[in-house]
Amino acid sequence: MAEMVTLTIDGREINAPAGTTILEAATDANIYIPHLCSNEELAPYGACRLCMVEITQGERARLVASCIFEVADGLEVETNTERVLNVRKLVIELLLARNNKHPALRKIADELGVKETRFPVEQKGCILCGQCVRTCREVVGVSAIGFSGRGITRKVATPFMEFPPDCIACGSCVYVCPVQFIPMKEENGVRTIKGFDYPMQKCSKCGRYFAPKKQLEYFSKITNLPLEHFETCVGCR
Ligand code: FES
Repeated sequence: MAEMVTLTIDGREINAPAGTTILEAATDANIYIPHLCSNEELAPYGACRLCMVEITQGERARLVASCIFEVADGLEVETNTERVLNVRKLVIELLLARNNKHPALRKIADELGVKETRFPVEQKGCILCGQCVRTCREVVGVSAIGFSGRGITRKVATPFMEFPPDCIACGSCVYVCPVQFIPMKEENGVRTIKGFDYPMQKCSKCGRYFAPKKQLEYFSKITNLPLEHFETCVGCR
């Protein structure tokens, strides 16, 4: 059983397993901290900085990202101080400059009392939370996409901006994106993700297109089972 630690969040005494993050401990205690880039299926990352909280350890108070900072005995956490709210307002303004239309971002902005961003709106859509890149690498095990560039040129990209050879078209990146930035559609036996086409496999029994061929080839490779094993849809097995 995990060792437990005792901390306070907004003055409430909380017990949490050692090794969990402040965000996890707060969520378990029904204390809301806004967050965008954290995902319990993925390793802590700390990209968006929306989840900032103020902690006091000993004499020292400082701001930390609650999704990457672990709980500790005696830790005092404040989730709503003026300092915290000012940082979150700045963060949401920066996010709105990349995407000022998405309802999830507008909702957080409303909660923080932010009507508009002071920064020039570039409407890039992607907020660089990295969930797509991390899901592809950590969950799917493929690393078909990654980040390129730095600062204002940073973006999610395929190798050399071309057809990603390792992509298995599973659509996990589409599913996990909090702002639905990555388009995916299926038409006439082809799945298209962000402009790249992937042929689908027809079920050997019912004839219905049911999965991208590349995904089935990947399953065959990682399980060492023959490809034919995967050419029947789940409903026909
Ligand atoms: S949710 Fe913590 S930095 Fe994004």
